[in-house]
Amino acid sequence: MRILVTGGLGFIGSHTVVELLENNYEVVVIDNLYNSNLSVIDKIHKITGKEFSFYENDVCDEDALETIFSENKIDAVIHFAGYKAVGESVQKPIMYYENNLVSTLHLCKKMIEHNCFNLIFSSSATVYGNPEVLPITEECVVGGTTNPYGTTKLMIERILKDICISDNRFHVIALRYFNPIGAHESGLIGEVPNGIPNNLMPYIVRVASGELEILSVFGNDYDTPDGTGVRDYIHVVDLARGHLKALEKINDLQGIHYYNLGTGVGYSVLDLVRAFEEVNGVSVPYKIVERREGDIASCYADPTKALQELGWKAEKTLEDMMRDSYQFILEEKNRE
Ligand code: UD1
Repeated sequence: MRILVTGGLGFIGSHTVVELLENNYEVVVIDNLYNSNLSVIDKIHKITGKEFSFYENDVCDEDALETIFSENKIDAVIHFAGYKAVGESVQKPIMYYENNLVSTLHLCKKMIEHNCFNLIFSSSATVYGNPEVLPITEECVVGGTTNPYGTTKLMIERILKDICISDNRFHVIALRYFNPIGAHESGLIGEVPNGIPNNLMPYIVRVASGELEILSVFGNDYDTPDGTGVRDYIHVVDLARGHLKALEKINDLQGIHYYNLGTGVGYSVLDLVRAFEEVNGVSVPYKIVERREGDIASCYADPTKALQELGWKAEKTLEDMMRDSYQFILEEKNRE
């Protein structure tokens, strides 16, 4: 089976390409290097000993998509490519809506033209907005997204649903990720944010490594056990494996299906800081500051549906996530 992976050199994309190659899928990657690096190709090769085709193009570029689909018989697409910085999306909504929506529309158009009807979409728990109940099941209402990035995920899910309604040849799985962290155990690939990181884990590792001075904990007056925000952190390799499980099942499912990919366990910001310090034997100085606008108190998954229907479950531990996240940043520094 030949899989087209959009954004395949990015954080989640690269880990998924590794799992695909290790499971003998043929892989074609399109990535415009907006938030990724060419060196990832070599690293994936080092990890897997396998090759894949690479197109340095933008998914918004219809001609490039035409070339890819003409040159390769694609059986399924995993669509990761997209802008993903929450804060930036508030500043540049047009850029976010244009890029994330247009790329998806062009991709679907080309899929239809080339008789490819299997699509796995990289969605997010952000589609649930401020959840009504916890843990969050796929039955929970979606909507109430708090930023344009999140709204693009919601809109794309809706677009894909309408495409499925219009054409019953389509099989779509939207995977709603909780908070992906960690890195490949080889230390070769991981998360490399553009500029100063906004997300918690990339920030913690940079404070621990001395690159940044101190972690700001955004609020300690939430209605949570220690007052800091609670999230469902999931190891990126577990997440990547979820895509393979989805691929195995996609042909059995008609229309669009949604699955939460999380562990089902919530940890607070301070839980994470303490776990990181303990596992890695380093200190992470922090200070409590004001809440960050748009943040919610708690968000964690009920991952039962993915287990029952896809046979997928997160297997890595919090310790694995802490160790692998730190090892990657230390090795990156050595490589510089
Ligand atoms: C955010 C987005 C989500 C996106 C995800 C990954 C929202 C509501 N959520 O998730 O859509 O998929 O990023 O890009 O926009 N924190 C600190 N200090 C920091 C950074 C974070 O205390 O320097 C806290 C936050 O307040 C939160 C937790 O750490 O409680 C996790 O934050 P973060 O890693 O940014 O992820 P989310 O906001 O959950």
